[in-house]
Amino acid sequence: MTVELLTKEQLEKVKFASKIVAQALEYLKDFVKPGASAWDLEMAIRDWLKKNYPNARPAFYGYRGYPAYLCVSVNEEVVHGIPRKERVLKEGDIVSIDFGVEYEGFYGDSAKTFKVGEVSKDIERLLEGTEKALYNAIEEVYAGNKLENVARAIYKTLKKYRLHPICKYGGHGIGTKLHNEPFVANCPGVGPKMKLKEGMVLAIEPMAGLKTAKTMELADGWTVITWNRTPAAHFEHTVAITENGPEILSLPD
Ligand code: MF3
Ligand code: CO
Repeated sequence: MTVELLTKEQLEKVKFASKIVAQALEYLKDFVKPGASAWDLEMAIRDWLKKNYPNARPAFYGYRGYPAYLCVSVNEEVVHGIPRKERVLKEGDIVSIDFGVEYEGFYGDSAKTFKVGEVSKDIERLLEGTEKALYNAIEEVYAGNKLENVARAIYKTLKKYRLHPICKYGGHGIGTKLHNEPFVANCPGVGPKMKLKEGMVLAIEPMAGLKTAKTMELADGWTVITWNRTPAAHFEHTVAITENGPEILSLPD
């Protein structure tokens, strides 16, 4: 396994790409409302990127043939939802928006699950638990710690919230590529065993189902849904391992 270690100068570039992503997600927040379609979000971000960061390249577009800038995953869609005009948001829905960019050869990647208006208590727990799993995982991201402790933090947090950790998918190293080694598992015992080192950058992305962890892929070859169409959530940050511990790069200014 070859894990990329970045210099401080290179980390600054990953940070710049990650900030673009964070700002994009902030921008999209206002577009998440009843009546908006997943495609509307895609159109909004295409315009925004061209206008604000014409030199940034949307990282997902064309990646293994992926057809959009964003992944927009509504309710039962876990990840990799292809934005469609027909998928219209309504009050009480949740929507994970995942975005990545490449800037001067370096990548940033982040995702958030948004509420559409008011949601049920169970959905609140789903969002709170999955986001908390991400932040608890980030606390484990320091040099010398075992990578598996990141997965353990995610898993334990989700269990505490009575959620179903989705072990089949997970995060990844990131840097000069969108998907680098190592695989960053959401459950212990699933990913590679290694020690974390200064200069590593990880995209950590917990996913959880409210009622099930079992997923299937749609015929479009991308969209992952829960098998019984119950809701799932997803949060992701790009995080660097520095001499001072974890630094979340995908935060807006
Ligand atoms: N953040 C997601 C991931 O790392 C998005 C990838 S979409 C793809 O898997 F099209 F690029 F695959
Ligand atoms: Co990712």
